Amino acid sequence: METVISPSILSADFANLEHEILRVKNAGAKWVHVDVMDGHFVPNITIGAPVVKSLRKVTDLKLDVHLMISEPDKYIQDFIEAGSDIITFHYEAQINQTLDIIKKIKAHNVLAGLSIKPNTPTDVLKDFIPYLDLVLIMTVEPGFGGQKFMHECVQKIADVKEFARIYKKDNLYIQVDGGINDKTAKICTKMGVNSLVAGSYIFGADDINSAVRSLL
Ligand code: DX5
Ligand code: ZN
Repeated sequence: METVISPSILSADFANLEHEILRVKNAGAKWVHVDVMDGHFVPNITIGAPVVKSLRKVTDLKLDVHLMISEPDKYIQDFIEAGSDIITFHYEAQINQTLDIIKKIKAHNVLAGLSIKPNTPTDVLKDFIPYLDLVLIMTVEPGFGGQKFMHECVQKIADVKEFARIYKKDNLYIQVDGGINDKTAKICTKMGVNSLVAGSYIFGADDINSAVRSLL
């Protein structure tokens, strides 16, 4: 599978999102990563479904929505209707409803992703792999952009790759998010990652084109 870059708009200029998305599109990005935070699951608040709905009108890039919220179940429908292409939620949020939430997402032709925080072991993902389109391995504690990549999370990539092999899920996206730059991206892709989220490295770069390309 070709590696997909998903620039996180968390580090973009929120007053000019259409322009910011155009800049990453011109640089070759195919997805846009939208970080949704509720000030409860993580200690920060960002944006919600209305912003996804507005972005849907101005871009044909895939909207890769990362829900860092305590009750994803309550809000999935809003994010589907807003035009999300991929919805990823956290395993830690509503543990007993995980499969129901995945099915809710998939019932609408939207790709379903499941994410784990750095302290959550990969074992918890295994039973869900057959139903998933994407697994997001957090390589920082979710909540803020610009943090340092946690190398101790790298082994998890190999674990998920092995699960994908066991279940013959050749088209599973294995994504990492947090502290991704040209160096950490290489470490992750070598281990089997095929989707890279990067915020500060891309939007903080002087030359956004070479920043996006340097991740590949
Ligand atoms: C963090 C978010 C990330 C964030 C990554 O909780 O999920 O998507 O934007 O930012 P960088 O790439 O700067 O670490
Ligand atoms: Zn994210």
